[in-house]
This record gives sequence, structure tokens and C-alpha cells, in this order.
Amino acid sequence: MAARGAVARAHRAVAECLYAGAWAVDATVGNGHDTLFLAQMVGEGGRVDGVDTQTPALSAARARLAEAGVLDRVRLHQGGHERLPYLLPGQAAGRVQAVMFNLGFLPGGEKTLITRPETTLAALDASIALLAPEGRLSVVAYPGHPGGAEECAAVMEWAEGGSGKELHILARDAPEESDRGVPRMVALERIPF
Ligand SMILES: C[S@@+](CC[C@H](N)C(=O)[O-])C[C@H]1O[C@@H](n2cnc3c(N)ncnc32)[C@H](O)[C@@H]1O
Repeated sequence: MAARGAVARAHRAVAECLYAGAWAVDATVGNGHDTLFLAQMVGEGGRVDGVDTQTPALSAARARLAEAGVLDRVRLHQGGHERLPYLLPGQAAGRVQAVMFNLGFLPGGEKTLITRPETTLAALDASIALLAPEGRLSVVAYPGHPGGAEECAAVMEWAEGGSGKELHILARDAPEESDRGVPRMVALERIPF
């Protein structure tokens, strides 16, 4: 199924920097749609690490990836993305081409188990060290659920700061859209060291 809206914009932003054999990270695996997209982009010789806190999410994703025949190039980790540096091997530092975040709750799952600003910002900070020069990071944030607007605002503020100027913004959705609960995407690129 093709992604739509903010998720499709995130896919386009990271697709431009991915190639066969690349390493990518899905920081919020959920039902595995984004993980599958990344696995297809990096090809047989590539690698995707996916992280999620929930067992049902990882089970659904594993089934989707197996059905598509790409599970062998994906490593799924159960845990919070704020622990990314501990979940991934040390050699990931500076070698990951793309990190994707698709925030909020698991579609079809428990709606109170959401991503939260403190851990999301910690994970975004941790992602910077993973990115290769000119590697890309995308975030889709959902202002429509309780707590979602605050998280969306925190992510956009983090992005605007260029997080210590190690990143620059490539594309972002217009701010006024959050007022209507519309998902917002921001994509950033790692400035070469
Ligand atoms: C909108 S869903 C992700 C959708 C997914 N990328 C897809 O393609 O189906 C958000 C996911 O974030 C997960 N999540 C919540 N807190 C998290 C955390 N601290 N670390 C990693 N994942 C988290 C939820 O369990 C949920 O599965």
C-alpha cells in the first residue's frame, strides 16, 4: 500500500539519500509499513534496524516483512528509541543513511501507548550521532491526539534549532496545519563533518 500525505513526504525525503547496501533505522516500527519501505530501498545487501516498545507492533511488523521476503535484512529490537545507542551496535555511529520517526500510537492498538516529547527528543538527539554525512532524518508528528500537539511543537522547535547546527531542515510542513490536527512532517539532513 502506498503511503499518503505526511508519511509519503517523509518517504520521499529519505528515499533521495538511500541506495542499495545502505543502513537505515526505523525508530518507531509500529505495523512495519515504514520498515518495509526502508528494507525495499536498501535492498538485499542493506540493513534496517527497527525499534518499538510494543510486542504486538513488532509481531505485526515481523509478519509483514516476512511476507514481503525482506526479514533477513531487518533487525527488530524491543525497547524505547531513547535507548537507540544501546540497542544498535557501536559501528552504527556515523554510518546510518536514514532514520525515520513516525510518532503517536500504534494504529489498531492501545491509543494511550504513545510516543512522548521527552523520550522523542532524547531519541532525536541520539539519532544525530548515527547519521552518516548527508544522512537524513524524518519525523511525522500527529497533533490530533491528547499530548500530540505538544509533542509536534517540541519536535518542530527541536528541528528549527538545527539541534546544535549539526542538521539543517530540508523540508517541513506549514505550521498552521497543526491547528487542524493534520499530521506534520519535517525532514533534516546531517551537515557533513
Ligand atoms: C504511528 S506508530 C508507527 C507506525 C509505523 N512506522 C508503521 O509504518 O506502521 C507509533 C509507534 O511508536 C511506538 N512507540 C511509542 N513509544 C516509543 C518509544 N519510546 N520508542 C519506540 N517506539 C515507541 C508505538 O508502540 C507505535 O507502534
